[in-house]
Amino acid sequence: MQLEKDLDQKGEKQKEENTRCLNMLGHFGFECLPHQLVNRSLQRGFSFNILCVGETGIGKSTLIDTLFNTNFKDNKSSHFYSNVGLKIQTYELLESNVQLKLTIVKTMGYGDQINKEASYQPIVDYIDAQFEAYLQEELKIKRSFSEYHDSRIHVCLYFISPTGHSLKSLDLLTMKSIHNKVNIIPLIAKADTISKNDLQMFKSKIMRELVSNGIHLYQCPIDDETTAQMNSAMNGLLPFAVVGSMDEVKVGKRMVRGRQYPWGVLQVENENHCDFVKLRDMLLCTNMEDLKEQTHTRHYEHYRCSKLLTMGFTDVGPDNQPVSFQEIYEAKRQEFYDQCQMEEEELKQRFMQRVKEKETAFKEAEKELQDKFEHLKKVQQEETMKLEEERKQLEEEIIGFYKMKTSSETLPAQLCTNLKKDKDRKK
Ligand code: GTP
Ligand code: MG
Repeated sequence: MQLEKDLDQKGEKQKEENTRCLNMLGHFGFECLPHQLVNRSLQRGFSFNILCVGETGIGKSTLIDTLFNTNFKDNKSSHFYSNVGLKIQTYELLESNVQLKLTIVKTMGYGDQINKEASYQPIVDYIDAQFEAYLQEELKIKRSFSEYHDSRIHVCLYFISPTGHSLKSLDLLTMKSIHNKVNIIPLIAKADTISKNDLQMFKSKIMRELVSNGIHLYQCPIDDETTAQMNSAMNGLLPFAVVGSMDEVKVGKRMVRGRQYPWGVLQVENENHCDFVKLRDMLLCTNMEDLKEQTHTRHYEHYRCSKLLTMGFTDVGPDNQPVSFQEIYEAKRQEFYDQCQMEEEELKQRFMQRVKEKETAFKEAEKELQDKFEHLKKVQQEETMKLEEERKQLEEEIIGFYKMKTSSETLPAQLCTNLKKDKDRKK
């Protein structure tokens, strides 16, 4: 600033002295900062990730081709998928020295199942998985964001069927489950199939339904003076009524992109015919950077916060004082250690209890066995005594028997002797 002032004063002096004045050709000082940023961005290239959600055959591929004026050669999907799937394709585009790495994610089989309850889940899972991958990269010790391909979804183009009635419950369910994760821009697909009056009524009806269901859409920023007017006009046009076509049709002497009908031509790039140009301007010319910023500062931040909170990290402690990462780590480690100790103690108690129970059971069984043994011993002793008595009795009987036997053997001889004695006496 001081330099500029000095130069001005010098110039004035030179003029006064009527000397030749040299104008500066290049930029000097910090006014060059924007040029540095532009050059660096041009060298690195840009990336943009679009998610297209819409029923099979609703015109997703045609619209993307029309937006980038490129035939991405996408195959048609089948109507017979049992679950909703996602097709992810990445392209490297180049336009006037500007490189763009474009990732397009499209739904397959969306709205084709009889039970549509879980149709939005693969979409939610995919968005979360990209946030998780980025978070993991952030948490790495050795980070390499310069080579990292940021696959977080920057915008979701939600294709609404041009029924002219209202949103389907699947539309509301899906938008409700992703509106806090991604910038949603609703589109009325194949808007050439609906009359001008019906289209206005349909647009208002859709907006009323979205508001009453608490669904947040992407709003173009209106805080920048240069784009405020254009952006507020764009916000007023939501949902964009779009028509896609890569066909070149002759209108007067010009060839334009459009759809030829028996009654005339619908020009895709004619703002009186549809909102295609507005959508393209919004996505590619005015708000691409804001969409990326919103993705990072709002949606990713929301994911990161809730993820870290569920992992037990906080910014403040129980006393509402700020706590550092180190303190949280230490507290968590202590908590884990305490829990381990507690579980160990519990296990020990349980083990002791089991041992006690087993010991009492063993003691009882031992006592029972002892009693049984005592009883059997007693019975055996009684039996032995009985047998002993019987044995004594038998022995006595045997002795008696032998006595009787001997006496019976000696009795006849005795009788003869007595008889002889009697005979002798008589003589
Ligand atoms: P899948 O990938 O198979 O789910 O289909 P898609 O959603 O990509 O639809 P696609 O772009 O292949 O278009 C399906 C048909 O609709 C084609 O015949 C297109 O010509 C036609 N179509 C695409 N956009 C429009 C449009 O804006 N208006 C009208 N009337 N027809 C369109
Ligand atoms: Mg397609």
